Amino acid sequence: MAEALSAIHVTKSFPGVKALEDVSLELHAGEVHALIGENGAGKSTLISILAGATRPDSGEVKVAGHAVAFDSPGTARRHGISTIFQELSLQPWLDVASNIVLSNEPSLKGARQLLSRRQAEHVAQLALDRLGARDFSARTLVANLTSAQRQLVEIARALAFGAPVIIMDEPTSSLPSRDASRLLEIVRQLRDEGTAILYVSHRLDEVKTIADRVTILRDGRNVRTELIDNLTTGQMIESMTGRRVDHLFPERSSHVGEVVFRAKNLTKKGAFHDVSFEVRSGEILGFAGLIGAGRSEVMRAIFGADRFDSGHIELDGKTISVHSPREAIAAGISYLPEDRKEQGLVLDLSSRENMVMAALPRFSALGLVRGRQVRSVTAAMGRKLGVKGDLNRPSLTLSGGNQQKVVIGKGLISHARLLIFDEPTRGIDVGAKYEIYALIHELAAQGVAIILVSSDLPEIMNVPHRVIVMSDGGMHGEFVHPELSEEAILSAAFSAFTREQGAA
Ligand SMILES: Nc1ncnc2c1ncn2[C@@H]1O[C@H](COP(=O)(O)OP(=O)(O)OP(=O)(O)O)[C@@H](O)[C@H]1O
Ligand SMILES: [Mg+2]
Repeated sequence: MAEALSAIHVTKSFPGVKALEDVSLELHAGEVHALIGENGAGKSTLISILAGATRPDSGEVKVAGHAVAFDSPGTARRHGISTIFQELSLQPWLDVASNIVLSNEPSLKGARQLLSRRQAEHVAQLALDRLGARDFSARTLVANLTSAQRQLVEIARALAFGAPVIIMDEPTSSLPSRDASRLLEIVRQLRDEGTAILYVSHRLDEVKTIADRVTILRDGRNVRTELIDNLTTGQMIESMTGRRVDHLFPERSSHVGEVVFRAKNLTKKGAFHDVSFEVRSGEILGFAGLIGAGRSEVMRAIFGADRFDSGHIELDGKTISVHSPREAIAAGISYLPEDRKEQGLVLDLSSRENMVMAALPRFSALGLVRGRQVRSVTAAMGRKLGVKGDLNRPSLTLSGGNQQKVVIGKGLISHARLLIFDEPTRGIDVGAKYEIYALIHELAAQGVAIILVSSDLPEIMNVPHRVIVMSDGGMHGEFVHPELSEEAILSAAFSAFTREQGAA
């Protein structure tokens, strides 16, 4: 098979870390090549080198067998390489069409002069249609899009470009399942048309179905490259982590106590209606549903980040009203949002500062922050979560999965009575997932009431004691083991839609 893009003996260090050491990877035309490894293994760094965004300390990049020196993503694009980065790179104050066309303009086939506005919209809309993007158009302002929609725009940008090489860094991690399967379909089509695709994902089941070959990195080094059919999922995990992982889920404790939190008839016009539930001390309550079912909206309202129109909430039997996240935290409610970049972390602050931000009063005396206490608490938390990277440096320098661990550390340090985890393991590798589940269980065992919002079916099946399913803003079923099954959850999750269709 024709070699499309390769990294040859590439090494790259950042202050204090060797991100890549002597790594090689050969991507062929007409293949989907998966790149997997634990958080911090070096996947995004390798991609960034192949995409021209980072220069290696040593080693070479070759396009179609010829050595090239990329000095910017623009140069890589002119060599036919289109990249969808893990952290999205759109201009929020431009519309979708401008974002799609801007970066492509110099390279769009035959487009020597600037595209007219009409042409730009046309090119963008074609790509959006191919992706089946329904709820926005080429004219929508990017600032008004959800993170899943922005992800689709990034993908549309690569499609519009028609590049022979497409690199995707966790493209499905924030996509609703329908869009994710549509994307996988397109990836297959592109592959069949001869495109070379490098595909980073933590979803090993997805890797199994989509990839032809897989390269596994561990601690910045090559472990192996294999045909996907020669590896079981267990073997992939073992190569990524360097150890056997027999249990993906820790055992649930059975000590469920008094009601800690109660929501009564929470309603917000256009978002959710009549949501009532309670969570007990030591209990893990799951919220399943499709992305967009209203789960995060409910949680944000409970946390005081949004308003609700009617209904009320109680903590330890007393009705409380919270008007801001600050008040919620003071009352004992903590929320770890799904979107770490927009709501969870201030990327320019150090990971230490991020971790204690929500609990500052506890670490201050007479208006001064107790530095030593902050250092020891955050160091302990960093160890507990297995954060790879320097906590004193801006969170920006951590890999995506390690940033997510810092968000979790922030929630754990806040000493809440009710702790809400919203998609806590998105972008987290399998080994670290287990550690996060173990932490959730440990907190529950200490008597914290826990809500787990998750779109990951195995997770929602195995971590919570009880699961509520939301669909289209309403509650559509509540399941306890042993009635809890994937079929039961899925059919409840789709129930609002099937009913609509039935009525039509
Ligand atoms: N700009 C930077 N400055 C300092 N260190 C960095 C920088 N970018 C990455 N690193 C470090 O390099 C290592 C590899 O990070 P990288 O982002 O490539 O990992 P990854 O495999 O993509 O992980 P994830 O699955 O979490 O996205 C990590 O230790 C990370 O902290
Ligand atoms: Mg990464």
